[in-house]
Amino acid sequence: MSQHSQRKEEHLALAKKYFEIKANDFDRVQLMRPALPESYVNKSSITYELLGKKVHAPFYINAMTGGSAKSKEINRAIGKASRIGQIPFATGSSSILAKEKEQLASFYVARQENPDGLFFANVNPNTPAKIAREIVKELDADALQIHINAVQELAMPEGDRDFRWLDKLKAIRDIVDVPVIIKEVGFGFDQASIKLLKKNDFNLIDLGGAGGTNFAQIENARAKHPLPYLDELGLSTVKSAIFAKDAEINFFASGGVRNALDILKCLVLGAKSVGIANLFLQVYENSGENGLVEQVLRLEAELAGLFALFGINHVEEAKNIKYVLTSGLLQEVICLED
Ligand code: FNR
Repeated sequence: MSQHSQRKEEHLALAKKYFEIKANDFDRVQLMRPALPESYVNKSSITYELLGKKVHAPFYINAMTGGSAKSKEINRAIGKASRIGQIPFATGSSSILAKEKEQLASFYVARQENPDGLFFANVNPNTPAKIAREIVKELDADALQIHINAVQELAMPEGDRDFRWLDKLKAIRDIVDVPVIIKEVGFGFDQASIKLLKKNDFNLIDLGGAGGTNFAQIENARAKHPLPYLDELGLSTVKSAIFAKDAEINFFASGGVRNALDILKCLVLGAKSVGIANLFLQVYENSGENGLVEQVLRLEAELAGLFALFGINHVEEAKNIKYVLTSGLLQEVICLED
């Protein structure tokens, strides 16, 4: 097994070991519910158009797998669940294809299962722009996520030590002919970085905030000399969302999304869609492909229920729901604002 495949298998095992549904900043967002919503549960209320394709719900399966035998099976299940649930889906970083072309099928299997769905390919910023373009073509992707993950890289003994990524992001963006999504992997986005991206004409980010999977913890478990202080460097998804909304950049919210109410909270905070990663992975690990399909369909039904409870009939209306930030969250955000 190559070093990359080996690492992917270790990530999968550790993502399982450390998975827990825990308290996070979503608990500090309280939505104002009308006692008299004057609505009914309507499953098509959550359907809308995203990046030019009709999708059944405002959430998607975020980037995780590819490049190893086990992840091929997971990507098959992800493709199938996204097809049946009619939601967008992503595969994990395909940058490995620059060196190990034979791994293509471990990613493409997801697209084969869902040929018409909204699909995001994923690469790291060091991927040569031409190869990124090739990957988008080979996977027939509708958009490209480029993950930025400085904390994870530093935690990885074999990780990248050069974080001068902006020019590389631009080179990839300028050569691919699909929308580019700049994505964190669980440490979130601060205002300055959002503004820098905006100034450089990037107009879509995936917050990948803290509150769920913590890649510092995962890498520390693999490292000979762990750096446990890196675990706490993440900015929560909620805080990142507030910054993104303030900066008027289009964003997907992800990181620590646990249930349908968290999805709704992300939409209320201004997200165009909501990514869920490890929760879906663990459902697959525990209940297989059928379990994953059921989970997606259940979340859709629950979200449609919440839409009725809050008296909204379209994804766009979520941003009109009033909310309060509790337990000092507003103060924390104000302190962080520049
Ligand atoms: C990830 N994630 C990830 N992100 C990315 O952009 N490229 C990748 O290859 C991977 N690989 C990966 C593997 C595994 C096993 C997990 C659990 C996660 C990060 C993922 O997309 C997401 O940003 C974070 O996991 C935070 O979301 P959750 O897990 O809290 O919903």
